[in-house]
Amino acid sequence: MSSLEKRVMVDMSATIIHHGHIRLLKKASEYGKVIVGLTTDDEVLAKKGYQPELDFEHRKEILEAIKYVDEVVPVPWALDDGVLEKYSIDLLVHGDDNSNNIQKEKLLIFPRTKGICSSDIRKKSSLIANKIKRNILLNPGPATTTDSVKMAQVVPDICPREYEFGDLMEFVSIELTKIVANPKEYTTVLFGGSGTAVVEATLTSAVPHDKKVLIVNNGAYGKRMCQIADAYGMDYIEFESSPIEPVEVEKLKKVIEENENISHLAVIHNETTTGLLNNLDEFGEIAKEYNLELIVDAMSSYAALPIDMKKQNISYLCASSNKNIQGMAGVGFVIANTKKLEKLKEIKPRNFYLNLFAQYENFIKSHQMRFTPPVQTLYALKQAIIEAKEEGIENRYKRYSKSWERLTNELKKMGLKYLVDDKYHSKIITSIFIPDGVDFNEMHDYFYERGFTIYPGKVAEFNTFRVANIGEIDYRDMEEFLKLFKEYLGGKN
Ligand SMILES: Cc1ncc(COP(=O)(O)O)c(C=O)c1O
Repeated sequence: MSSLEKRVMVDMSATIIHHGHIRLLKKASEYGKVIVGLTTDDEVLAKKGYQPELDFEHRKEILEAIKYVDEVVPVPWALDDGVLEKYSIDLLVHGDDNSNNIQKEKLLIFPRTKGICSSDIRKKSSLIANKIKRNILLNPGPATTTDSVKMAQVVPDICPREYEFGDLMEFVSIELTKIVANPKEYTTVLFGGSGTAVVEATLTSAVPHDKKVLIVNNGAYGKRMCQIADAYGMDYIEFESSPIEPVEVEKLKKVIEENENISHLAVIHNETTTGLLNNLDEFGEIAKEYNLELIVDAMSSYAALPIDMKKQNISYLCASSNKNIQGMAGVGFVIANTKKLEKLKEIKPRNFYLNLFAQYENFIKSHQMRFTPPVQTLYALKQAIIEAKEEGIENRYKRYSKSWERLTNELKKMGLKYLVDDKYHSKIITSIFIPDGVDFNEMHDYFYERGFTIYPGKVAEFNTFRVANIGEIDYRDMEEFLKLFKEYLGGKN
């Protein structure tokens, strides 16, 4: 008998058909005629504990339409030699979870396709069917995410030291780099932690002990860089600048010229305190002119505003998983020039967990973080990256900008003022003056009850609140917010 004439049984319940089934059937067809032993409805109910979504006849009809399948016959949950004899079966093909009690010579085991099984699909669809409430987050991250990003976290348990998980982190690292640089020259180093962790990692790991960092402080996040440097007793110069006006470049240059030993210049791209956009082209030019390494906190600009690390002479760029990339909170990352990362080896570590070189070196060797990563956040981040690529960063920023324009046009019509002139605005977050007679907390609660989250202001001298327009929201959500805002203010009069 030639091998093609063999009758090969593949047993399955096929309640939800997926690519793992197709791959198994295809492989089986290489051994002869494929006879699917399809578990009957009663047996699925008795052994798996649920009524199949599709009954036997419909599952059979689907299987018969698959080109690798020659016949479909009813079988019980557990197969034995009697069943094989009844259908004249020469070989039984099964995944590596086989529990059928049949003679070894008739058994052909294939590994199961990784990462897929009907019960996981069932779990995910039931979560989707339960429809998660959509909250409109107008705080500047964590941002509103898609359901598919939320669902991406529901995965089989996995030890993050497995190669499969290393591959996921490699994908994440390379794709995050591609948004702002060429992965042949730049590398993304991932940390479990929030954005502040990676700003801290960068400042403490990149600046040599005998050098100084010049920190531009024109908002709360510039100030935070100074606080980090203080906490480590680092030598730094604070360049204070207006929170609402562009940095006076000539003044900054003067500071560089008047001080010795400055090796690094650190700046926030989009000051999330106000929405003031620091001009990276200008900072890149300064870094070049004075031979400084430029550190950029791009927490609330990355994956929306255009950034080109090479062109803009940026050595280190910090961002996180939960803002414009639209993933879950828990991963911070530093994108850096690879040659510069290699050189960090020469700097004696100021800390342990947050050491950038150690994290980089370990990742290059093993595609692993040094310590336990936020596993599910990384699955969500992968999905978020896929969706960011589908939308395109430029289009994402257009979508964000459209919401911002709706917001600010309406604010102008309502006679309300906001910080930072449109010319210098990031169009990502707006700091709005709180109208007279309005209490922020009360207004917050009014919106919160209606599914919108607004954020307090952060500049001490101005009484403001903040509205961000990032995440999986668009101008229609902003219009809804504005409608509620008018209703709220109307109720005050
Ligand atoms: C510019 C900037 N830097 C740093 C941070 C701190 O990030 P995290 O709160 O994730 O630590 C934020 C947070 O909003 C930010 O906007």
